[in-house]
Amino acid sequence: MKIFDNVFLIGFMGCGKSSVAAKLHELYQLEVVEMDEVIAQRERRSISEIFAQSGEEYFRQLETDLIAELMSSSGKVVSCGGGVVLRQENVYMMKESGKVVLLTANPETIRKRVESDESRPILKGKKTVEEIHSLMERRKPYYETAADLVIDTEDKNITEICEEIKRKLEKGGNE
Ligand code: S3P
Repeated sequence: MKIFDNVFLIGFMGCGKSSVAAKLHELYQLEVVEMDEVIAQRERRSISEIFAQSGEEYFRQLETDLIAELMSSSGKVVSCGGGVVLRQENVYMMKESGKVVLLTANPETIRKRVESDESRPILKGKKTVEEIHSLMERRKPYYETAADLVIDTEDKNITEICEEIKRKLEKGGNE
């Protein structure tokens, strides 16, 4: 796949952004930026430690700074943290430098994926389907406003999801 813009994968925690980014790399040799990984490496501490020691706002600023840096690059697949859409300036920058692809999954599916994972401070002690559903509903307008493309990941394997992204991006990437 030839892409000239960046592709930003957005969506709720556990919707499959990292797995899809890795598969896009494998299938189409696209360079991947895993935002959480870059931030944790630069800070030399985990995302949970950043939240606990420096607070959420500090982390959100690191996300904004990284997106600003990515504006000068092209052709990259960026696997975003689930909360990047919460800042309007992030959405503006993502749309300026590429296409924004929203991955969706049901709260039940998300719960199964995040159940035994302790790396996400936002979900600490809040991993019931009801709590996930409620946070997802609160974030839904942010995700939907940001998205150029929406891909429902339910009942699809990762290769199928990547092929759907490719097909839709090649058609222009707007729905
Ligand atoms: C967050 C999602 C996480 C990570 C941080 C906050 C969020 O990324 O950036 O824990 O607010 O939704 P993933 O979506 O990759 O889990």
